[in-house]
Order: sequence, then C-alpha cells, then structure tokens
Amino acid sequence: MTERLAIEDLTVRYGGVSAVTGLTLTVEPATCTALLGANGAGKTSTLRGITALEPAQGRVLLGEQDVSSWSASRRARTGIGHVLEGRHVFPGLTVADNLRVAAGRAKAAPIVDPLELLPELVPHLDRRAGGLSGGQQQMLAIARAVAAAPRAILLDEPTNGLSPKLVDRIIEIVALLRDAGFAVLLVEQRLEVAQGLDADVVVLRHGVAEHRGRGSDGDLADVLHHAYLS
Ligand SMILES: Nc1ncnc2c1ncn2[C@@H]1O[C@H](COP(=O)(O)OP(=O)(O)OP(=O)(O)O)[C@@H](O)[C@H]1O
Ligand SMILES: [Mg+2]
Repeated sequence: MTERLAIEDLTVRYGGVSAVTGLTLTVEPATCTALLGANGAGKTSTLRGITALEPAQGRVLLGEQDVSSWSASRRARTGIGHVLEGRHVFPGLTVADNLRVAAGRAKAAPIVDPLELLPELVPHLDRRAGGLSGGQQQMLAIARAVAAAPRAILLDEPTNGLSPKLVDRIIEIVALLRDAGFAVLLVEQRLEVAQGLDADVVVLRHGVAEHRGRGSDGDLADVLHHAYLS
C-alpha cells in the first residue's frame, strides 16, 4: 500500500545554523513533488530530516501515522524509501546481492518489482556494484530503494552527473514510480526534470519555501533564476 507523505513545520539545524526552517508540504500518493533550489538551499537536509538521518523538529507523517519520534531505521523499515545523494550502493557486493540485502530488510513484498522497473540491471546481476558506471549505480540505488518495499519514496538528485539520455531515462523511471502509486519527493537541480514530470514544485531558498507551483508553469525558469542568484 502506498501512503501520503507530509511534513509540517520541519526545521533542520546544524549547530546553531538553520538549514531548513519551518517547511510544510504534502505529497499525495501517485503524485510527484520536486524540491528545487541552489546549492546549499536545504534540499538534502529536508530529505535527511524526513528519514531521521539528521535530527529535525516538526512533524513527519506517513499516511495517518505520525513517525516524528521514530528512529531512522524504523522509518526505513516502515516504508520511507530514500535514494541518497551520491548513489549509495555496496560496492563490494554484486548487483543481485545489493538487491537481496535491501529486500531482506523489507516488511512486505515490494509494490513494484525492481528488475521490472529497471530491466537494464538484469545483464549485470553478477557484477560487483563498484564496477558499474555512474548511471548503472544510480539505477541500482533506485532499485534497492524499491526492493525495500517502501510506501513513499524520496530521491536526492538522481540525475546528477548523468548524460542527457540517462536524464530522460530517470524522468521515465520517476514517472513509473509515481504512476505505480507512490508519493515521490524528488530533489533536483535541473528544471527540465520537474518540467518533464509536470511535478508539483517547491522552490527552497535558504531553507525556506520561496515559491510553489508546477513544472509546467511558464514563469518557473524566472523564479529559479531569482532563487539561484539571490
Ligand atoms: N553535516 C553538516 N554540517 C553542517 N552544515 C551542513 C551539513 N550538511 C549541510 N550543511 C549546511 O546546510 C545547508 C543546506 O545544505 P544541504 O546539503 O541541505 O543543501 P542542498 O540544497 O542539498 O545543496 P546541494 O544542491 O549542494 O546538494 C548548507 O548551508 C550546508 O552547508
Ligand atoms: Mg543536496
């Protein structure tokens, strides 16, 4: 079962410095929200606050369940999938074993079969993950999140460093996840990804939601230009 993901008044601080301040947003099942903003805007901190990889104030809800007091591992087990910034896979394990480890932690069968979503991984199942290309590692990182049977999915800059062809493929994969019913919260630097998905858009600047709209909005490029320059 997929669930709505909501955050209310989320604040993430490092020491005395606030990286995210009072952020509220809701991602409904079968929709995608793109969190856009410049380097250091607080996008990664938002996702890490949601999955408790960083301590955060405010509320995090998965469906009707308030998970705000739960540990990171409990949130992961209960269904907040997180594809971390920078493609975290186990480099010394094969692709198949990476998927087995992820599936072994799951509480249920995945809604989407990771290898049906990402058939390009099938020829590489017996290879060490560390020997894959950057694009293949990104696909594996997504497959691992899916294998863990999440009920909502966070992705942190999945297109970072990828060729235009692979960016298109990532857009397609995110659309498939959305259409399978997941609430998808996607962090991106690339406007074209939010546009390609016609995602709901939240633009962060200095940790605050400065603008909300949609990927198809004609003024989004101007809004982002402002957010990046100031
Ligand atoms: N572990 C940390 N300790 C201290 N400050 C941090 C830490 N991680 C991030 N920050 C600071 O918090 C702010 C937000 O960083 P964050 O990584 O969330 O931004 P981002 O929007 O994901 O940027 P990027 O596009 O570069 O990934 C920045 O000022 C950053 O320097
Ligand atoms: Mg980041």
